Amino acid sequence: MKKFNEKVVLVTGATSGIGEATAKMFAQCGASVVLVGRNKDKGIQIEQEIRAKGQEAYFITCDVSKEEDVIEMVNKAIKKYKKIDILFNNAGIMLPSREIERMPVDDWKKSIDVNLTGCFLVSRYVKPYLLKEKGTIINNASIAGLQYYAAGRSYAYSATKAAVIQFSHQMAKNYGEEGIRVNCICPGIIDTPILGDRDRSVYAQRVPLKRLGTPDDVAKAVLFLASEDAQYLTGVVLPIDGGVSL
Ligand SMILES: NC(=O)c1ccc[n+]([C@@H]2O[C@H](COP(=O)([O-])OP(=O)(O)OC[C@H]3O[C@@H](n4cnc5c(N)ncnc54)[C@H](OP(=O)(O)O)[C@@H]3O)[C@@H](O)[C@H]2O)c1
Repeated sequence: MKKFNEKVVLVTGATSGIGEATAKMFAQCGASVVLVGRNKDKGIQIEQEIRAKGQEAYFITCDVSKEEDVIEMVNKAIKKYKKIDILFNNAGIMLPSREIERMPVDDWKKSIDVNLTGCFLVSRYVKPYLLKEKGTIINNASIAGLQYYAAGRSYAYSATKAAVIQFSHQMAKNYGEEGIRVNCICPGIIDTPILGDRDRSVYAQRVPLKRLGTPDDVAKAVLFLASEDAQYLTGVVLPIDGGVSL
């Protein structure tokens, strides 16, 4: 018996990086995985890769910042798998860092729309199904959202990620008695396309463990938080960063 047999997991931002790795790991551990993202070609490719291994996945195109997309996506997911046990709110963007007087207002708004409103919208429309299953939410923030981590000039990114942490705290506090656990992860510097062409070796030197994180490093922590082994954990804010936020 695999650990997530008969569980339905919804992963946003499953078309790349951390979301892709986590979706694949859940599928490998027996879950049926709803893959959510905007990139249809990539989504279908990942769905096929998972299915080719005899595992279960279903890609749905959705922009998490658009309410109508989210409603349609959740309806499709329920039609396909009848329930949702685990939600991984992972979709996110990191737009170029600039001094605030040079930051396009649209960049600020877009960061909030995707990183924060997206997390709210998906939680909002998935919650009724999590209530039925006494399910769990894992939100993907960042060490950039932690009070004690000075994250350069990523004003919009850091602000949205701090908000995701607080949003997670509020949900954890209020939905515990309804049987929903809510935890939040704060990855450090993880080697995914979000880093663009930044020099990885420079970043690795700053990390006490002397390497960047891999998407699998993060996926393993997400699976733990989603599992029965974590049944007394809620409201946790977990850095996954090789010690870089110390
Ligand atoms: N890598 C790091 O160092 C790091 C550190 C801390 C936190 N994080 C967080 O980890 C999460 C995943 O990032 P990653 O590093 O894996 O980057 P990534 O490889 O660029 O993946 C980002 C994912 O988010 C999805 N996405 C972006 N905008 C979306 C939208 N409007 N609607 C739906 N999906 C959307 C993308 O899919 P589509 O393009 O298909 O829409 C993609 O699957 C983000 O929330 C990021 O802030 C990353």
